[in-house]
Amino acid sequence: MRDLREIIHPRSVAVVGASKTPGKIGYAVLENIISSGFPGEIYPINPKEEEIMGKRCYPTVKDVGKPVDVAVLCVPAQACLSVAEDCGKAGVHHLVVITAGFKETGKEGRELENQLVSIVRQYDMRMVGPNCLGVMDTSTPINATFSKNFPLKGHIAFISQSGALCVAILDWSLKRGLGFSQFISMGNKGDLNEADYIEMAADDPETKVIALYLEDIADGPRFIESARKASLNKPIVVLKVGVSASGAKAASSHTGALAGSDTAYDAALAHAGVLRASTMTELFDMAVAFTNQPIPGGKRVAIVTNSGGPGVVATDAVELNGLEMAHFSAETESVLRDKLPAMANIHNPVDVIGDAHYDRYEMALDTVLKDPGVDGVSVLLAPTAVLEVGRVAEVIVDMGRKYPDKPLVAAFTGGAAVEEAVKYLAKHGVPTYDFPEPAVATLGGMVRYADLRKSLADGEPWIFPDVDKNKVENTFQRVRADGRDLLLGPEASEVAEAYGIPAAPSRLAKTQEEARKFARELGYPVVMKIASPDILHKTDVGGVRVALKSDDEVAKAFDEILANSRKAEPKARIYGVEIQKMMPSGHEIIIGMTKDPTFGPLIAFGSGGILVNLLKDAAFRLARGLTRAEVDSMIKETKAYTILKGFRGAPPDDLEAVAQAIGRTAQLVRDFDQIVEMDINPVFAYPKGLSALDVKIRIA
Ligand code: COA
Repeated sequence: MRDLREIIHPRSVAVVGASKTPGKIGYAVLENIISSGFPGEIYPINPKEEEIMGKRCYPTVKDVGKPVDVAVLCVPAQACLSVAEDCGKAGVHHLVVITAGFKETGKEGRELENQLVSIVRQYDMRMVGPNCLGVMDTSTPINATFSKNFPLKGHIAFISQSGALCVAILDWSLKRGLGFSQFISMGNKGDLNEADYIEMAADDPETKVIALYLEDIADGPRFIESARKASLNKPIVVLKVGVSASGAKAASSHTGALAGSDTAYDAALAHAGVLRASTMTELFDMAVAFTNQPIPGGKRVAIVTNSGGPGVVATDAVELNGLEMAHFSAETESVLRDKLPAMANIHNPVDVIGDAHYDRYEMALDTVLKDPGVDGVSVLLAPTAVLEVGRVAEVIVDMGRKYPDKPLVAAFTGGAAVEEAVKYLAKHGVPTYDFPEPAVATLGGMVRYADLRKSLADGEPWIFPDVDKNKVENTFQRVRADGRDLLLGPEASEVAEAYGIPAAPSRLAKTQEEARKFARELGYPVVMKIASPDILHKTDVGGVRVALKSDDEVAKAFDEILANSRKAEPKARIYGVEIQKMMPSGHEIIIGMTKDPTFGPLIAFGSGGILVNLLKDAAFRLARGLTRAEVDSMIKETKAYTILKGFRGAPPDDLEAVAQAIGRTAQLVRDFDQIVEMDINPVFAYPKGLSALDVKIRIA
């Protein structure tokens, strides 16, 4: 196993394709490594040169004759294979392949990339790229890229799938005074991918927060594993762009149709403890906040302002971001009442009013920060003629030092009047914005990370030992032997029952006599449904009858259902009619599964019944690793929960039974990878227990 830390802390680097010609990539890379102050050995490789930039040049890596930790490749694509081979033979540990012309160009390029990866594997090397900008580390320091700029020293590791974006962000970061620990351009991720880089950054003592720009995730399960581990100690913020493949695929199940294009990524990132940013601004706002501010202990926010309007804007933002306005203690209010003018608002948001000097901010901040009911503070400022704006900035920084456990953010709204103060705040690590909303949103993101971290800490998957795997296996074998992929109703109910999900008792009747017999055995009233793997929408073809109360009604319904179905779908394979005990009505919910190519099965829970696709009330989680806490949180996310917990005086439904059914469905789809689609809709939830009325399972 190679030590990946060598990629950013190498002892020696070779630049293959190093050039004497300014403007060429091989020139820029060599020049950057030298000028970044890299303290290790540097070996230019170029068969045409004896010396470049005062360094001895070698015809090939094999000629160096000394250990080489990293070789940066700046030679044309066709030359990369033989150069990689040379590197392998020379014992190079890692390649950084800047060269483009691989997978991103189509079939031939993909083939070339595959060959490059096999050489890398053959010689037990690891590779960054191909088609990347390179890597940088500010503590080593090393700039093994062809970027014009080198970042300021800082604590953000930025990992990007776009090289051009790296260049742009670098330039912008210098203007903004933002520092980085590492800067990694992943390129095509032929070998190393985001999971590896997250592990590298997690290990790096200089890195406090990991920010990623992703277009896709190469290996879903590995990403989750690495990110879950890393997020326990360091916040990870991801900007994921692009629509995932699963979203583009048409879905035939209800659950599949409920899942949006990005549902799987949302579920996976949350399960991994990763914060998802929706814009570049948010990505870096969060990164900056995590670098400099403490993780809040809760979600109770205090606002201190010198004008009412922005205070109201911030108060609205508090709610929108899932935060709470802090309720001050009697002591806090009494101090504020004593020390602020009568017109001031001593409740949250605290308004020190327009004639305030800096000392009112100082007193108000000190007072609310001291209050144990306050977890974080947002300071708002409008630059009045009487206010010493710079002094307020100093006060905020001082308060940050005095209360190191509570995050502080600021919104200084203005132009030239606040410019210096904003710079001062930025320099001292206080996230500062032009307007109140992003300030509050940043606190919201920090609280969300704190919550995610808590849920990671009790992250054991919810397992049920009392399931009958053999029974399910046997059912699937029978279905396959019959040449079907869709289970008939009674078969699917059997599978659900085997995993402890209570299903309405049902039997498959092939004849009218059987239908009457089963109906009597199950007990009237009964429901009858056409049993055919080819008829998905049974009601539409007249294939369903409900509330049948006698032998005669059952016999008549049997004939009618068959006739209707044959007429509507003459080619359908018909296995008979399913006789199901009619269950007392309950609140209708859906539990289902849809598969994502990157992250595997997703579990859905929400409002069920025939309106399911209209209501679109569903929460999703990854089935893999699903915890009890995640099940509880997904239930609470839905509107269905409002009804289940007892709406308008109705008794609450059995939420424990609902949670178990979700957990058991997740275990079923985890245990049986061959299940490609599953809907249980509706499930009737009762004050005691529940009943699955319609279980649909499709297997591969
Ligand atoms: N070993 C060592 N040096 C070699 C070599 C080999 N096997 N084969 C060629 N070289 C030398 C060349 O002689 C040349 O040196 P010179 O300037 O002294 O003549 C140097 O390596 C570069 O080769 P050259 O043929 O001039 O290529 P180039 O510089 O025009 O292009 C790349 C090379 C890698 C820059 C180009 O193929 C490429 O991929 N560009 C796109 C890069 C990119 O966008 N990456 C993604 C960023 S996000």
